Amino acid sequence: MESLKNDLLLRAARGEQTERVPVWMMRQAGRILAEYRAVREKAGSFIKLATNPELAAEVTIQPVDLLGVDGAIIFSDILVIPEAMGLPYEMEEKKGPVFPKVVQSVADIDSLRIAEPEADLAYVLDAIKIVKRELDGRVPLIGFAGAPFTIFCYMIEGRGSKTFSVAKKALYADPEFSHKLLQKITDSTIAYLKAQIAAGANLVQIFDSWAGILSPAQYREYSLPYIKQICDAISEAPVTVFAKGAFFARQEIGNLNCSVVGLDWNMDPTESRMLVPNKTLQGNLDPCVLYASYDQIRKEVRNMIEAFGTQRYIANLGHGVYPDTNPDKVRCFIDTVKEFATTSAL
Ligand code: CP3
Repeated sequence: MESLKNDLLLRAARGEQTERVPVWMMRQAGRILAEYRAVREKAGSFIKLATNPELAAEVTIQPVDLLGVDGAIIFSDILVIPEAMGLPYEMEEKKGPVFPKVVQSVADIDSLRIAEPEADLAYVLDAIKIVKRELDGRVPLIGFAGAPFTIFCYMIEGRGSKTFSVAKKALYADPEFSHKLLQKITDSTIAYLKAQIAAGANLVQIFDSWAGILSPAQYREYSLPYIKQICDAISEAPVTVFAKGAFFARQEIGNLNCSVVGLDWNMDPTESRMLVPNKTLQGNLDPCVLYASYDQIRKEVRNMIEAFGTQRYIANLGHGVYPDTNPDKVRCFIDTVKEFATTSAL
């Protein structure tokens, strides 16, 4: 067994007691640090950076050194899965990801392959191995993947969207086609997460960023069963399920074979504890709180911890940190969590 100097995050994920609340931030690698932008500049583009294991490892570790978080998250993107299945993406400056080709027919699905991580995603696995060596047990490493439904959205729509109505249209128009693609993504994702854990990831998070665009009934049909398959397949490390906007599915997510349920800021901590009584909760500060004054940030963070309690809890934002956030405000968030006195007797 690897020995970690700071294993608060892992212990909290496993439901064990912790002497203080662990904290990290979704999208902590990239986005806010000048030091990240310098490395990205050197690499030339996001994709060149993400596919260069040495540089990806460097930006993965930056938030540990510069912000003091209790976990590192591997620098990559959820869209490496479509790429590994045969649908490459491009990252357009200011616009985000774009897929030159999209999936439109059953023949298109048949032309995709189930990702083979050791061959197709070796650059991520190599980055994980470098990070593990360089972290030298300082904090745990988080691996991740998109939830099948969120990946489906991008593979059908080909770019970001406020409504993903083209992807949703496919669910209504052709359920069989939709399930076929979702299953292929799921098989790829299971192999990928297992490979990340084998390479050294200590826990993994599933990002269902677009969960909130589905009705409860559609969520039950098109997203949950595939997340369930992933959770049931992964017993090697704790799994976190973060389904943004799926307040209506908290109870069902809490009943999955996962260790941690991630919450966004629309979800009330007390209500969430009631709906998910026996899992660790993660979240859920509104990222916009980090635009407030230092005093206001401290107040909001303390209120949040008081509402969640200090055990079975991982402090985080309710979604990724916004790119124009002042890193000093981020440090204020992290330091306030770390300074919060744990009241329960240990
Ligand atoms: O958490 C981390 O810091 C690890 C790295 C990470 C990235 N993307 C790097 C990235 C993670 C965990 C992701 C996940 C991701 N990617 C999600 C799920 C989480 C969420 O925020 O909902 C989604 C939906 C994507 C797809 C994606 N990638 C979009 C929509 C964009 C463009 C807008 C944006 O978020 O910046 C990306 C690009 C991307 N992924 C960047 C980074 C650092 C910015 C690219 C750049 O540096 O030019």
